Amino acid sequence: MTAHTLDELLAEGVRGRHVLVRSDLNVPLDGSTVTDDGRVRASLPVIAKLAEAGARVIVMAHLGRPKGTPDEKYSLRPAVERLAELAAFPVRLAADVVGPSAKELAASLADGEALVLENVRFDARETSKDDAERAAFARELAELTGDGGAYVDDAFGAAHRKHASVYDIASILPAYLGELVRTEVEVLKRLTEGAERPYVVVLGGSKVSDKLAVIDNLIGKADRLLVGGGMLFTFLAAQGHKVGSSLLERDQIGTVQSYLERAAVAGTEFVLPTDVVVASKFAADAEHEVASADAIEGTASGETGIGLDIGPETAAAFAKEIATARTVFWNGPMGVFEFPAFAAGTKAVAQALADATSAGALTVVGGGDSAAAVRTLGFEDGQFGHISTGGGASLEYLEGKELPGLTALGA
Ligand code: 3PG
Repeated sequence: MTAHTLDELLAEGVRGRHVLVRSDLNVPLDGSTVTDDGRVRASLPVIAKLAEAGARVIVMAHLGRPKGTPDEKYSLRPAVERLAELAAFPVRLAADVVGPSAKELAASLADGEALVLENVRFDARETSKDDAERAAFARELAELTGDGGAYVDDAFGAAHRKHASVYDIASILPAYLGELVRTEVEVLKRLTEGAERPYVVVLGGSKVSDKLAVIDNLIGKADRLLVGGGMLFTFLAAQGHKVGSSLLERDQIGTVQSYLERAAVAGTEFVLPTDVVVASKFAADAEHEVASADAIEGTASGETGIGLDIGPETAAAFAKEIATARTVFWNGPMGVFEFPAFAAGTKAVAQALADATSAGALTVVGGGDSAAAVRTLGFEDGQFGHISTGGGASLEYLEGKELPGLTALGA
């Protein structure tokens, strides 16, 4: 089965019809300030196309992980305010998900206007493991469209979730694939089906356990795997080094060791840090120094050290590897980039990807924290081949898993 596309829906005609769009507006917030509006900007084109064609657009989205009840902390308001600033058409936010406010505002939508429902995760049925509960919620969402409704899935970032607004809704309303999802899948396919070599993957982020499945899948496929971020310390421990007070997932050391052995046979080279920036504590103003990766003990003043970034020698080595690549996928910051003293490694990798893009390589930044990192560090989206909106979703795609949000649409 091939998925129906947004263009097909537009060709059918949407004027006067209610169209439910699932977007990923899960943006990072500092209080009520959106610190990276990448997902809002990425979601706008499909919503705008529908509104311009005269649809009455109802957007469904989540923010964070509320516990299945309304919680102001997880309101979509900041994301919706940003969307309204960017949009050339009226955008309103309902006070609830499928309650009186959503019903009234949906019914009073005019052609070319958009309504965003409050966080779909304010209703526990959205994420329920019980198929019947999710289906009941999806039916209530679908009812907001009245007659002639349609559903567009444009939330690549949530495609790995078997949730009512991503999965179940697609079997209730005529379903179409949004362009953001289509673009994401096209790019990620280029990584999984015959990536141009050398294929270099840079992995970071704090938890090695989040990355095990993707590492497992990339052994034998990628030419080189560069490891930074908090997860590097489990790799150093697997090599028999001390890691001080750095992040360590002791229970994963054995698995990491088995990956190092398998990679050596499969022709994938792990490139591990040779130096790290070691701080006295986890703080922006912590005293810090560069230490050899096999000599992390403590800082000069004697405290047990905590590694917060890759060192300059490692950053240069990673940049050199990236410069040789024809395809690069990067997921996860190299250090605690939110603290300027520990952002150099992430900045060096971002710069190396930007340079590789200019040199004609396909470079893909895999969502979430890495996307926020490149923007926070002052890079432009155009310096990379593609910045995915999906963190977990892009990783699961590379793991070779089926994503419920795609299978539901036959994509
Ligand atoms: C993400 O941030 O990766 C997506 O929005 C999915 O969010 P979730 O991990 O809370 O399902």
